[in-house]
Amino acid sequence: MSSHRLPGHPFVAYRNSTLHIENVALDALIADHGTPLFVYSKASMLSALAAYQRGLAGRNVQICYAMKANSTLGVLQVFVQAGCGFDIVSGGELDRVLAAGGDAQKVIFSGVGKTTAEMRQALAAGIGCFNVESEAELAVLSSVAVSAGLCANVSIRVNPNVDPKTHPYISTGLKDNKFGVAHEDALRIYQYAASLEGLRVTGIDCHIGSQITDSTPYLDAMDRVLDLVDAIEASGIALQHIDFGGGLGINYHQDTPPEADMLWQQLLAKVDARGHGGKKLMIEPGRSLVGNAGVCVTEVLYLKPGEHKNFCIIDAAMNDLPRPAMYQAFHTIVPLTANPAREAPTLYDVVGPVCESGDWIGRDRKLSVHAGEYLAVLSAGAYCTSMASNYNTRGRAAEVLVDDADARLIRRRETSQDQMRQEILA
Ligand code: LLP
Repeated sequence: MSSHRLPGHPFVAYRNSTLHIENVALDALIADHGTPLFVYSKASMLSALAAYQRGLAGRNVQICYAMKANSTLGVLQVFVQAGCGFDIVSGGELDRVLAAGGDAQKVIFSGVGKTTAEMRQALAAGIGCFNVESEAELAVLSSVAVSAGLCANVSIRVNPNVDPKTHPYISTGLKDNKFGVAHEDALRIYQYAASLEGLRVTGIDCHIGSQITDSTPYLDAMDRVLDLVDAIEASGIALQHIDFGGGLGINYHQDTPPEADMLWQQLLAKVDARGHGGKKLMIEPGRSLVGNAGVCVTEVLYLKPGEHKNFCIIDAAMNDLPRPAMYQAFHTIVPLTANPAREAPTLYDVVGPVCESGDWIGRDRKLSVHAGEYLAVLSAGAYCTSMASNYNTRGRAAEVLVDDADARLIRRRETSQDQMRQEILA
């Protein structure tokens, strides 16, 4: 049997010309589940997690999967079973963690706009820590905790003002971003936090952006955070943990991010050199755990030749795969069945059925396809289904989790009835 792996996707391969995830042929899933269909490899998620575990081996560490990347219950369950905690950004995400069997004590709550209802909910559930992003939020959290008769563990998200060199919409650690507190204000805000009732200051937090493919911004950010740790502790406030956020990139297309274990070796050398190696470390990786574990299988509906452009119209659209429209992101697109003997490939813009010119999934792609055949959009495990919408009253796609030769439906395709359930006719 001939086998051909795809670079950067160790669990996706052509075998006898048919694309497989682990030991499941993707074309075999279409009859049961239809398209567009998201398919995830459990082994890919666990192997990405293992890279972090190797890099942080022997340390007091809590890996909190940033579930905004993919919050489907069946995916969360993989990380619950692997012992992970979760980085959440809403009360809804907390509900999902608990529904998937996650441990509230291993939950950290990030985000600039937590409501008092979400604070109450998270306190009642007994979450591990709030990553607080402003003075105003500290004051509100303090009063919510006092009135609930509870105490909130807090760390403050500091903004190290380093450039992660990524797309502007997904860079978060620069001065002008809405996230975190400014480096120069951090010490004063820590003192304020320590003075408030109902709060227990436990750590420091930072997250500089997403899809980072270079180690330098991470190393610079760690230096800046450790400077603050020294200053905060010198002022008499002891810190138990350092939360270094997420953001590590994946290979979408000729990207060469550092491996998680290598990156953490370098970061830990800094932490140790500055005498903080005994502190608990927390991390919040999202994309790097799930991004390359997923593909989206889609049918070619029509080929539409044009004078300047040829269009390949597929049944997946910007509501399923929003990243190209939002960030001009590149997802590799490959045929489900490789057929090298075919006619020479044609250059296509691969587009969806949604009524927007922005509804494109790939531009200028060389493909040799016919209507009725299938394509796979790669690197679709992160920030696709979790950012999906119902635009054009399109139902959310079905999702399948593959474990070796086993394929299990983890989300049924959404029907129009599902979509209309909350609506009321006059
Ligand atoms: N922690 C915090 C506080 C975050 O804001 C994020 C992502 C993460 C962790 C996880 O970052 P990751 O390891 O996944 O890079 N929708 C965009 C990405 C937005 C990221 C938002 N924050 C995209 O599709 O590229």
